[in-house]
Amino acid sequence: MTYEFELNYFRGPLNAWIFKALSSYMNRLFGDSKRKLFEGHPSTVVEIGPGAGANMRYYSKGTNLIAIEPNLHMHENLHKSAYQYGINLKIRSLVGEAIDLPDNSYEFVVSTLVLCSVHDPEMVLQQIKRILKPDGKFVFIEHVKAKENTFLAWFQRLIHKPWHWFFEGCHTNRDTASILQSIGFSSLTIENYNQYSPFVAIIPQIRGRAIK
Ligand SMILES: C[S@@+](CC[C@H](N)C(=O)[O-])C[C@H]1O[C@@H](n2cnc3c(N)ncnc32)[C@H](O)[C@@H]1O
Repeated sequence: MTYEFELNYFRGPLNAWIFKALSSYMNRLFGDSKRKLFEGHPSTVVEIGPGAGANMRYYSKGTNLIAIEPNLHMHENLHKSAYQYGINLKIRSLVGEAIDLPDNSYEFVVSTLVLCSVHDPEMVLQQIKRILKPDGKFVFIEHVKAKENTFLAWFQRLIHKPWHWFFEGCHTNRDTASILQSIGFSSLTIENYNQYSPFVAIIPQIRGRAIK
């Protein structure tokens, strides 16, 4: 099976602008979690779907960042963020389902708010596991499916279609925790939490770490 990212010349630039414009607010929401998850990261980091570069402010200056970002409309902002935060950026215009990096090679992989949007989250996670060194770590923050029979679950279903269209494939109600559990990481810590904000469709969230 081949995986491709469908570039959209209306939603692509609009989303790139939105993610850039929202970056300070999103960092207020997720900053504490990111600081804890990224603490002590190695000098090379692989990030899946870095968008406008929201995570760069949490990487040490001089970090070598390999950014797997298939959406070409995000690349200009990625370069700008890398310059702003002193990051050595290499962009791979690939989907996370088809990473072309070698097996058993990286100590640290990051994804934040990405597994909701990818076409095949199992495949992306298998790729992440493949490129990690034997004791390599994957850290993540994702918004996920709410508990059944709650207002949040109802709202996620209500808004799913337009949200999915507008945010280029984002699923409001993906059960990412179960998918993570199915991958066979040697160790997996998932914390469920609710980061409340006006973006009701992206409550609740999970954050955590997996070791290959
Ligand atoms: C909601 S944005 C999150 C951006 C950033 N990680 C953040 O936390 O602000 C989702 C990102 O995933 C990217 N993306 C979508 N499908 C992807 C795929 N199959 N593989 C890798 N990245 C993908 C999008 O282009 C976008 O940059």
